Amino acid sequence: MPTWNLHVARQSIRAARAWLPEGLPAFVPEGVTRSALLGDVFHAIQWWDVQAFLRRFPMRIREALESDLEALMAVFTAAVHALAGGAYTAEQCRAWAPIPPDAEGWRSRLSGVTVLLACEGEQVAGFIGYARSGHVDLLFTAPLFARRGVATALFEAACADMRRSGTQRLRTEASLAARPFFERQGFAVVAEEDVLRQGVALRRFRMTRDLRVPRA
Ligand SMILES: CC(C)(COP(=O)(O)OP(=O)(O)OC[C@H]1O[C@@H](n2cnc3c(N)ncnc32)[C@H](O)[C@@H]1OP(=O)(O)O)[C@@H](O)C(=O)NCCC(=O)NCCS
Repeated sequence: MPTWNLHVARQSIRAARAWLPEGLPAFVPEGVTRSALLGDVFHAIQWWDVQAFLRRFPMRIREALESDLEALMAVFTAAVHALAGGAYTAEQCRAWAPIPPDAEGWRSRLSGVTVLLACEGEQVAGFIGYARSGHVDLLFTAPLFARRGVATALFEAACADMRRSGTQRLRTEASLAARPFFERQGFAVVAEEDVLRQGVALRRFRMTRDLRVPRA
């Protein structure tokens, strides 16, 4: 856990203890212990604090370096298991994002694409991998940063780069979890398919978009 996170956690425990009286309030259902309640309050406060803390940092987008590999694999693994976990079974998530991740496999996969990272402070909030020919290959946001515009910012930066290269058409293979994001960016589904990962089938969608047409 990074230092600032520990600091926030300690502060939150202190705040939760001070907030919760020794005897439990009347609205607490029978069977709920003080420590369980304290735990819930702690998580709520910690989450709020972390979010407030992160909002102090503007998001920065930069090209990935080789030294970012660990952080990038961590974002990928967490995104698949936590964010795509609602759309795929645990077995499918394990096949898609094995734990631990295969660093060599990642190194070779990333060598063929341009990778941009979104950073807030020292934290990697997400990354996109694409080919300037128009293929959006990878797009993952760390769960803590989900629904805060990280993927949108990365996608827009990649589009600006591809426009400069003269790219006219974008294509991607979107997961069940990512389809709404790509639809929001003006992509349309052209085919539905199953891809095999370690012998396990995962449903995904081939989607395309004309880059010359601004999204609605
Ligand atoms: C898909 C993913 C990259 C989106 O990242 P994100 O940073 O949360 O996306 P944004 O905050 O930029 O979302 C922009 C818009 O896309 C749509 N969107 C994004 N995630 C969505 C979801 N889970 N359900 C419905 N709409 C979604 C919304 O319209 C959202 O705008 P809103 O938050 O104002 O409603 C992220 O959820 C992820 O990593 N998912 C798991 C891994 C995955 O499937 N990656 C793609 C592989 S193809």
